[in-house]
Amino acid sequence: MAARVALRGSAILRTIRPAACSLPRESRRQFSFSAANMSSFYSWEPEGPTIKTQIPGPKAKAQIAELDEVFDTRSLNMLTDYEKSSGNYIADPDGNVLLDVYAQIASIPIGYNNPVLRKAAQGDEMINGLINRPALGNFPPNDWANVLKTGILKVAPKGLNQVFTAMAGSDANETAYKAAFMWRRQHERGGHHVEFTEAEMASAMRNELPAGSSELSIMSFKTAFHGRLFGSLSTTRSKPIHKLDIPAFDWPQATFPLLKYPLDQHAEENAAAEAASLKEVEDIILNYRVPPCAVVVEPIQSEGGDNHASPAFFQGLRALTRKHNVLLIVDEVQTGVGATGKFWAHEHWNLQDPPDMVTFSKKAQTAGYYFGSPELRPNKPYRQFNTWMGDPARALLFRAIVGEIERLDLVNNTARVGDYLYGKLEALAQKYPGQFENLRGKGMGTFIAFDSPRRDEFLARAKGFGVNIGGSGQSAVRLRPMLIFEEKHADILLAALEKIVTSW
Ligand SMILES: Cc1ncc(COP(=O)(O)O)c(C=O)c1O
Repeated sequence: MAARVALRGSAILRTIRPAACSLPRESRRQFSFSAANMSSFYSWEPEGPTIKTQIPGPKAKAQIAELDEVFDTRSLNMLTDYEKSSGNYIADPDGNVLLDVYAQIASIPIGYNNPVLRKAAQGDEMINGLINRPALGNFPPNDWANVLKTGILKVAPKGLNQVFTAMAGSDANETAYKAAFMWRRQHERGGHHVEFTEAEMASAMRNELPAGSSELSIMSFKTAFHGRLFGSLSTTRSKPIHKLDIPAFDWPQATFPLLKYPLDQHAEENAAAEAASLKEVEDIILNYRVPPCAVVVEPIQSEGGDNHASPAFFQGLRALTRKHNVLLIVDEVQTGVGATGKFWAHEHWNLQDPPDMVTFSKKAQTAGYYFGSPELRPNKPYRQFNTWMGDPARALLFRAIVGEIERLDLVNNTARVGDYLYGKLEALAQKYPGQFENLRGKGMGTFIAFDSPRRDEFLARAKGFGVNIGGSGQSAVRLRPMLIFEEKHADILLAALEKIVTSW
């Protein structure tokens, strides 16, 4: 592979000292990783984790206290030194360096301080995008078509050739929902060309519907997460804490088919759960008091606990939405950009009829929704509009990321490493019954998760063993490594996981 670099040293041993006071005596044994752990994609990352203090250490504690005077730190996971973070490794102010398989909530694609991205950031094009930020709807740069075609649209899902750019995942979903409502109403009026009536315009200004028309909704699934803005939050159903006190729309939710593992031992039950869920979807489409004009679904429910469903389920969902003229919005904010071993997770479903819209953000660094039908462009300008409508600098960054993903074949890398990691996790689960339950994500790249009986403690202790891991839902440990995660990183992770469960 052209990008592989000659690596320094051949038998360097890196010693990891688990955070001394936070761990039981038994686990304080040192463990080591060999030079084989060095990244073969880039030469700039460390050979392994280094743990020097408890996390947070003394410096981090002082800086957190200072920060807390002016900024809410109650959700803080780890105070980070981004200058010292590199590749798959995240650093803190006390000199601790952790293998990061959480990656800024699944949003770092090709490593901290990636040299190719640093170079792109210093180019005139990027500087221009940063300091002359355009109001894209009104004053797009003269090369905007080219930036889109060589970046965001170069990796557009099959069948979708247009994009509406946005700022973040919630914004991407929210604007997709607006497109769905406008699409449906245009149909009801008799097409794009039909003008709004005076009554419609007057009632819109009173936040009311014109006499005789009924509300529409967006259907989502129980335990889904689609963001936290007003519209997106109404489709989010993962945790009450996200929703408390916030006004919400009367929108329906269907049961997501929570599968039982191992899959091969529960095939019948799982197929029945999926069939029941599809039946519920159809019932909601036909009978809910506020009829849905779109269904939004994550290919793998991520924040809600890493819940998977089979390609057959999603094929069924596509067929149902098509049958009832309801749009299908696939939320690939977390699953998109390579992590499942395909560029877009919904490619695993082999749909003949593509989703109507696919939303993206996180690893793309930019955000938005892809669509194919020209009818999804609203009938008038300014109906779907903001000052910025995205960000050319972030679009340029995504273009550079796409370039690296292609150059290093990182989607296939993730598929291969994911299979390797999954196989080893299966063995760990057998060796330590009850510790790695409901292992899921087979064949889905590194988008892997399992349940831990002591999940929060598991995540906290992981740091002492040199890895930064995230959770999802009530009990899942979710692995969200970057696309430059290799077998050698998987070995470090696996050694740490074993340490965690043998040192309770
Ligand atoms: C599937 C999914 N959709 C939407 C969002 C919201 O994205 P953001 O936090 O960028 O608004 C998230 C965030 O975790 C997500 O996982």
